Amino acid sequence: QELQMNLEQIEKGGYDHFMLKEIYEQPDAIRDTFRGRMLADQGLIKMAGIDDHIDKFINAKRILVVACGTSWHAGLVAEYVFEELARVPVEVEYASEFRYRNPVIDKDDVLIAISQSGETADTMAAIKLAKESGAFVFGVCNVVGSSISRESHAGAYTHAGPEIGVASTKAFTTQITVLTLIALQLAKKKGKISTSDFHTYLKELETIPEKVAEALTTNDLVEKIAAIYKESKNCLYLGRGFNFPVALEGALKLKEISYIHAEGYPAAEMKHGPIALIDDQMPVVVIATKKGHYEKVVSNIQEIKARSGKIIGIVTKGDVDVKNLADHVIEVPETIEFMTPLLTTIPLQLLSYHIAVLLDKNVDQPRNLAKSVTVE
Ligand code: G6P
Repeated sequence: QELQMNLEQIEKGGYDHFMLKEIYEQPDAIRDTFRGRMLADQGLIKMAGIDDHIDKFINAKRILVVACGTSWHAGLVAEYVFEELARVPVEVEYASEFRYRNPVIDKDDVLIAISQSGETADTMAAIKLAKESGAFVFGVCNVVGSSISRESHAGAYTHAGPEIGVASTKAFTTQITVLTLIALQLAKKKGKISTSDFHTYLKELETIPEKVAEALTTNDLVEKIAAIYKESKNCLYLGRGFNFPVALEGALKLKEISYIHAEGYPAAEMKHGPIALIDDQMPVVVIATKKGHYEKVVSNIQEIKARSGKIIGIVTKGDVDVKNLADHVIEVPETIEFMTPLLTTIPLQLLSYHIAVLLDKNVDQPRNLAKSVTVE
């Protein structure tokens, strides 16, 4: 028993939980994900999985993305990034819905399946369906040699290393990293972005690990905020554009490990329902980074304030406007808009982590959840 405990302590590398360790591993995990693939100095991306099948991607009339859970949220971020950079239509589907709704799949479609474990039954079934229709299937998995990675025609691993905590953290940010690399490569090959923009983006992506590390320094502040809101019964997460999926993911993290009811919404949809829930008992986490419809998000924040909601703003370093309105602000470094999800996600992971710890929940193995869902 004692030996077992010690072994686990060693595996956790000095952290109280695997989840916290994995949150802190993200700068290295993201670096590992682009190592050898992105040569920022030379202005090059080299990814065999993409380069060997580039015609499939270039000729695709659309890209279908299938996934579940957190991986589905990474797919939603990818939708925004692919459409912005590579100008190709993208549809993101829950694998469980896709497989049972007689979807229209064309042989020219590229289907990207995203899965940390590479074993999720619904995602696996969606792949089989796409293959039967002649589509090209590309897997984005973390676990090397997993079923989905073997069933796909080609793929790219996330290289995040083993993720033990049931609530996914570093798998999410590395999935976004891989998908961003693919979008950039495709955009360049299709001539949708200039060489100089391509170089600028690679250079910026290279700085993301340091910026993630900087975002992690908000930990103590986030812990204090967690202590204030830990007894809340509900929590709302709002974001727009690239950060709308981050709002969904922030809410999912809170639900998964603290069992507090949370919902993510596109900020502008607030007025079509969730605004009715806002009172002085309701914490509202708003992702309000500079650019990306900033003014519109600020006006959403004013609407929340007018109804006495408690505002936790995730803002760009040096922000003034949101700071004047919000109850709390958590700063992340500035980056190019489509890369902001990699930074804004960090404080949301920490917030759910600290709330769960303060509530004495089983952070690494939340009730009713499994790390890999191999049954439907
Ligand atoms: C389970 C896990 C989630 C994960 C989802 C999809 O629900 O608890 O953390 O996001 O499955 O898993 P996958 O391995 O396919 O990414």
